[in-house]
Amino acid sequence: MGSLFSPSFFFFLLFLLSQPFLLILTHCSPHASLEYISAIGDPGMKSPNVRVAFEAWNFCNEVGAEAPHMGSPRLADCADLRTPFASDQQDCSGLGSDSNCIVLQKVSESDNKLGAGEKFPSERFKSYLDPDLYVVEKERYLGSLCEVHDSSNPWSFWMIMLKNGNFDKNSTLCPENGKKMTKLITDRKFPCFGKGCMNQPLVYHNYSRLVSFDKRMVSLTGGFYGTYELDADLNNGIGKNSYFSVSWHKNVSTGSWIFSNQLTTSSKYPWLMLYLRSDATTGFNGGYHYDGRGIMRKLPESPNFKVRLTLDIKNGGGKNSQFYLIDIGSCWKNNGDACNGNTTTDVTRYSEMIINPETSSWCRPNNLASCPPYHVSASGEKIYRNETSRFPYSAYHLYCSPGNARHLEKPYDICDPYSNPQSQELLQILPHPEWAVHGYPKKQGDGWIGDPRTWELDVGALSNRLYFYQDPGTKPARRVWTSINVGVEIYISEGATAEWNVSDFDVIVPPDARDANCCSY
Ligand SMILES: *[C@@H]1O[C@H](CO)[C@@H](O)[C@H](O)[C@H]1NC(C)=O
Ligand SMILES: *[C@@H]1O[C@H](CO)[C@@H](O)[C@H](O)[C@H]1NC(C)=O
Ligand SMILES: *[C@@H]1O[C@H](CO)[C@@H](O)[C@H](O)[C@H]1NC(C)=O
Ligand SMILES: *[C@@H]1O[C@H](CO)[C@@H](O)[C@H](O)[C@H]1NC(C)=O
Ligand SMILES: *[C@@H]1O[C@H](CO)[C@@H](O)[C@H](O)[C@H]1NC(C)=O
Ligand SMILES: *[C@@H]1O[C@H](CO)[C@@H](O)[C@H](O)[C@H]1NC(C)=O
Repeated sequence: MGSLFSPSFFFFLLFLLSQPFLLILTHCSPHASLEYISAIGDPGMKSPNVRVAFEAWNFCNEVGAEAPHMGSPRLADCADLRTPFASDQQDCSGLGSDSNCIVLQKVSESDNKLGAGEKFPSERFKSYLDPDLYVVEKERYLGSLCEVHDSSNPWSFWMIMLKNGNFDKNSTLCPENGKKMTKLITDRKFPCFGKGCMNQPLVYHNYSRLVSFDKRMVSLTGGFYGTYELDADLNNGIGKNSYFSVSWHKNVSTGSWIFSNQLTTSSKYPWLMLYLRSDATTGFNGGYHYDGRGIMRKLPESPNFKVRLTLDIKNGGGKNSQFYLIDIGSCWKNNGDACNGNTTTDVTRYSEMIINPETSSWCRPNNLASCPPYHVSASGEKIYRNETSRFPYSAYHLYCSPGNARHLEKPYDICDPYSNPQSQELLQILPHPEWAVHGYPKKQGDGWIGDPRTWELDVGALSNRLYFYQDPGTKPARRVWTSINVGVEIYISEGATAEWNVSDFDVIVPPDARDANCCSY
């Protein structure tokens, strides 16, 4: 009797439990990676058609004032590659000669030029005089022109986000932790050359057009580019002006879009950001408190989702460049509830891995205020930041707390209260063996200049381990990420340039992931 508990069976069990592959099977079988599906409208960037939108943000992710003759800072390039007489389903790329193919533009120049106060061609969209309200309608309008109905869950476009880090403390354009102020009193320092430093850029557009290779392979190419210097004439070159450019081409061997990006800062605009965003098709997306449009039909939720992409960096943007190998953004309240657009209680949550090897760890044993209160190890163990012999300080760049949190553990740093429409919480991590278990870079320099890589990042598992603030005793928030971004933030530096390519981007989720257009979560 008792054979089940014989010593040999016991050791066999121990042996089984010590085998990592078996643990993985038992823990993850409901979501085995084979069952994962793409969450986005353009899986792996393989669509022959172009769906790209452009958005420009001032310091608090609004418009403030439109640039002269530029309209509201939302544009789109949505172009279908078609054979003229074939059905919609006919694939034009790779077939026959280019003379069979045409480009169908969904968005006209007059759509892209629409500016505050102008009527939309469709009655469904309301014309506001306030540029901050108009831009939201314009994004929804452009989204409606670009919408692809290839499932019950329509999607619109990839989003290119450009942000100006100048902040005029004499203006009242940006609220403080989501509260409108009549006067700002702060010791924080921000770049601003004087009146008008928060301006929107000049944006130029190369509409998608046909290109062919050897008269066989036909595809589209196009781009957006421009500058913040309103007096610049880019026909004479970039000169000492700020500059951004994003263009898309097909990789003829893989069929993926290649997004080629450049961002250059200047003395007047020393702090700029340029990201490629995969935003939810509807609803709030990271950093924004209005209904936006995007490409993620299903919402990735920790711990079960992954992100694939190829990143090839040619130029890093200097020592202050924070190059993000994935920035994830979401919103939830400090009591764990989903956001509802009330900027006094909604909190933007960001986490990003910075892969510039020149970025140091601000989180240190002698600067615990820049560390999260604890680290969660891969096995689920909490390690407090004061456990100096065990806490992996070098896995963190910095942590800062939301400005509207009421039960913070000392010491703490509050995140910049002005650079978002509402309070924000920020957790910036660095390449480290702690994160490498999820497919992230293991050491600084991995994936940097001259080391192009195709990453498969278990962003879901990693983001599940991160500390985010909540009021004591509240139910943990569902970590549903409405924006997944890759790109660069060049922090205060003059004349720095970053250049990089992104391709093969995909977000993969279990089939039962929540639809973006379903409901609030
Ligand atoms: C803000 O006001 C102060 C005091 O009037 C002035 O010295 C400063 O130049 C102003 N800053 C900007 C950006 O206009
Ligand atoms: C726009 O088109 C011009 C002319 O073909 C080209 O030189 C430039 O590189 C293009 N820029 C982008 C961002 O597409
Ligand atoms: C196209 O993809 C192949 C395979 O991943 C890669 O080797 C090549 O460098 C890519 N081409 C460009 C222009 O990025
Ligand atoms: C990015 O892609 C472009 C267009 O395919 C290619 O010419 C360029 O060499 C690539 N740059 C990098 C940094 O890979
Ligand atoms: C936002 O939330 C605060 C705190 O719960 C509440 O006092 C305020 O009335 C809300 N504002 C709106 C516009 O609902
Ligand atoms: C370390 O931090 C934890 C959590 O804040 C606290 O309970 C503990 O007393 C601290 N230990 C030391 C030695 O300060």
